[in-house]
Amino acid sequence: MKPEDIKEYLLRRCNRPLGKEEGILFGDPYIEVRNILVTWMVTLDAIEEAVKKDCNFVLCHEALFYPYVVPEGLGDVLSWRTNRKRLELLAKNGITVFRAHGLLDYLLITEYFGKTCNLGKPIAKEGIAYIYQVTPITLKEFARNIKSSMNLPSIRIAGELEKEISKIGIAVGGMGLFVNIGFWEILLKYNVDVILVGETDEYAIRYALDSGVAIVETTHPSSENPGLKEFSEELARDFPDVKVYFHDVGNKWIYIT
Ligand SMILES: [Fe+2]
Ligand SMILES: [Fe+2]
Repeated sequence: MKPEDIKEYLLRRCNRPLGKEEGILFGDPYIEVRNILVTWMVTLDAIEEAVKKDCNFVLCHEALFYPYVVPEGLGDVLSWRTNRKRLELLAKNGITVFRAHGLLDYLLITEYFGKTCNLGKPIAKEGIAYIYQVTPITLKEFARNIKSSMNLPSIRIAGELEKEISKIGIAVGGMGLFVNIGFWEILLKYNVDVILVGETDEYAIRYALDSGVAIVETTHPSSENPGLKEFSEELARDFPDVKVYFHDVGNKWIYIT
């Protein structure tokens, strides 16, 4: 089995073209795939796990190198510390990296975020903008429920804690960051009371508050891991000749109260 077989499989299942950020990011594109590691990001831990599990193919969801958009002409970015360390470890172990980003957000990551949060069936969908309606509940209780269904040690909320909410829009992964604020306008069209995000930042919450909506934040990987894990199980089912492992990058924030 070759990386090309996985690409074809993805394209068949997703029914949309590969984005320009997707496809092979590093390594031999013609490698004979032994085992596969599926991970949210190709961190050093993930590469070490791939080596341990004898995986020479890593399917990731996020970018491999920094900055997010590599400058024209490449510049010196491959000598940056994290980039260099990842590159050296991948090269030393002959690992090929393939990124499936938008493809998986559309296929199942968004859906599994909603499912894991026990939001029921979406009442509307527009691309990866999913809208849900729940029985009216205070923002505080809603956030508590999300914290427990996502198994999070802590959760961040912006908004009036005692206010009743019932309509929820989700902004999975990094769609809650202010760089993606244009996407929020799709959710606001549906008059949501709260935007449930993977990850957000200060500019974005000020936008939310001035728009009259609350924010509940899970974390970027925890919002995307359920869909990625499901995808790794589907890959294992459809490619029975190789082993497929899911690597959870975990939540690295430490909360001190
Ligand atoms: Fe994503
Ligand atoms: Fe993401």
